[in-house]
Amino acid sequence: MGQPVNVGVVGCGAISAQYFQTIDRLPQLRLVAVADLDLDRAREAVRPYEGVDVLSVAELLADPRVDVVLNLTIPAAHAEVALQAIAAGKDVYGEKPLAATAADATRVLEAAAAAQVRVGCAPDTVLGTGTQTARKAIDDGLIGRPIAATATMMTPGHERWHPNPDFYYVSGGGPLLDMGPYYITSLVTLLGPVARVIGAASRTRAKRTIGSGPRQGEEIPVTVDTHVTGVLVHASGALSTLVMSFDGAATKAPNIEVHGEQGSLVVPDPNRFDGQVLISGKDGWQELPESAGYVGAGRGVGLLDFAADQELRAGGSLAFHVLDVMESLLAAAGSGTAVTIASTCERPRPVALHSSVS
Ligand SMILES: NC(=O)c1ccc[n+]([C@@H]2O[C@H](COP(=O)([O-])OP(=O)(O)OC[C@H]3O[C@@H](n4cnc5c(N)ncnc54)[C@H](O)[C@@H]3O)[C@@H](O)[C@H]2O)c1
Repeated sequence: MGQPVNVGVVGCGAISAQYFQTIDRLPQLRLVAVADLDLDRAREAVRPYEGVDVLSVAELLADPRVDVVLNLTIPAAHAEVALQAIAAGKDVYGEKPLAATAADATRVLEAAAAAQVRVGCAPDTVLGTGTQTARKAIDDGLIGRPIAATATMMTPGHERWHPNPDFYYVSGGGPLLDMGPYYITSLVTLLGPVARVIGAASRTRAKRTIGSGPRQGEEIPVTVDTHVTGVLVHASGALSTLVMSFDGAATKAPNIEVHGEQGSLVVPDPNRFDGQVLISGKDGWQELPESAGYVGAGRGVGLLDFAADQELRAGGSLAFHVLDVMESLLAAAGSGTAVTIASTCERPRPVALHSSVS
């Protein structure tokens, strides 16, 4: 193995701890510096880790040690921070969505191409054994030609547990832009890119109440639709039916099912790396053994392709296509007409069963 890739993190909020844990246990990656608008938060976040510098954003971007900027800011800041990192000549990998709008994401990808730096984007959960084992089952022909999928995410909303949930209810948020990246990235991994969408959406209430933390009881405004449904017509002809909701109480529907001409698969939660994959057969449902994907992975495993100097599986063109699909679905819901997806992407290459993430 060569030198580890040096990672500088911008944004040290709720999700950052999971990334720090992953980077800490992967010899291919090294956390060298962190930054946040709130420097105290950044200091607190890296307290368990030795030798990590806490810097201003400008200092981190100018730091010659930093190979990759890991952008864990809120969605509204994703494009701005990515563009600053690219202007500093750094590769950048960010939390989802790639940007709050496809127009902003286009600016990011164009700037990266001009600067000849790489752009990656979460989710990397689909590189885990759950989605990858299901993908291998499809690729191996175990369910025959795939014809359809369902994807269901039903929750009363993240304000119950997130201490600063404002971003989930403004432009760039909502159940589709927040959770859709997991489901749609998984569907594209399983069934390929999307050619056309139809949709419908609704909003049940104008305010939400924060359920935890110092702001508990505070009401925050809702300016986006909070129940989004649609059909994704994949380029292959397969049809995926999607329900993404912050308005429901609960569901017993599988996160994702894929139906082929000869069988069906239950695919585990795409917001997790692992989980049980079930296949239908003449004796009912049977569990498939883990046969592909990173075993024991955590958030940040998508950065391994930077370290291996390979084309990114959790890459910019996939993240852009997923954002384009989501934006088009909201446009279709608004207009009541089908929307053709202008972008496309390669199905990311599969992950062989890989146990080095431990
Ligand atoms: N919280 C989760 O469980 C979770 C899970 C998966 C993905 N994500 C994604 O991770 C990202 C961050 O979510 P979070 O929950 O950690 O949010 P958060 O609000 O807890 O943290 C975001 C941090 O970014 C900082 N920040 C914002 N703009 C900045 C800027 N311009 N420069 C420097 N720092 C800036 C904030 O000060 C804050 O500390 C989002 O894109 C979210 O969708 C969150």
